[in-house]
Amino acid sequence: MEQKNEAGAIITQKMIDELRVRIKPYLTDKRYAHTISVEKEAAALGEIYMPERVVELRAAALLHDIAKKLTYENQLNLIAEFGIINDTIKEIAPAAIHAVTAPIIIKRDFPEFATSDILSAVRYHTTGRAGMTKFDAIIYLADYIEPTRDKDVCIQTRRLFYEKLKSAGDEKERVVILRETILSVLRSTLAYLTSKKVKIEPDTEAAVRYFSRGGDFT
Ligand SMILES: [Fe+2]
Repeated sequence: MEQKNEAGAIITQKMIDELRVRIKPYLTDKRYAHTISVEKEAAALGEIYMPERVVELRAAALLHDIAKKLTYENQLNLIAEFGIINDTIKEIAPAAIHAVTAPIIIKRDFPEFATSDILSAVRYHTTGRAGMTKFDAIIYLADYIEPTRDKDVCIQTRRLFYEKLKSAGDEKERVVILRETILSVLRSTLAYLTSKKVKIEPDTEAAVRYFSRGGDFT
């Protein structure tokens, strides 16, 4: 099975198999196990929502935490080096900065996977965004509900999501369930960050507003 990226190049299953090995030095063992679990979850969600994009979803999942092992300082340096440091970057919480630097690393070290869909899903996997795509949403949700996540809220979200899906009659209903689940994850993330008095990303707030006003995937 192979799928074309926007440049017309082909992302093959063989490239995915190799990617699984290539990402290893970038991740701790624990993060690697999580990443492989996100890949499986994203593929399962992809089979339900966009079977023609499963290979690309696997690539996005494998690359989503690629910058996670770097220190905050290293990441700021990386950003400075690529000339995109600005006020928005300074607003980003240290725990979320890896979503900004991952696209830089993908373009530098894994350019054959640097499609706009993969870069966007990786960039917004911690915050979501207003007008996020179904592709973005699958990576966002897979990261949150993959089975090695042991927080109650993740386990509950996973259980509820798959339970609701069972009663969905058609594609339209399945998409509604995805949208509702994304909104509920965004809201609980917002509540969690507020309770911890941690900086809240404007993208997360914008995403909550967008979906709570009935916004759809773009
Ligand atoms: Fe992750």
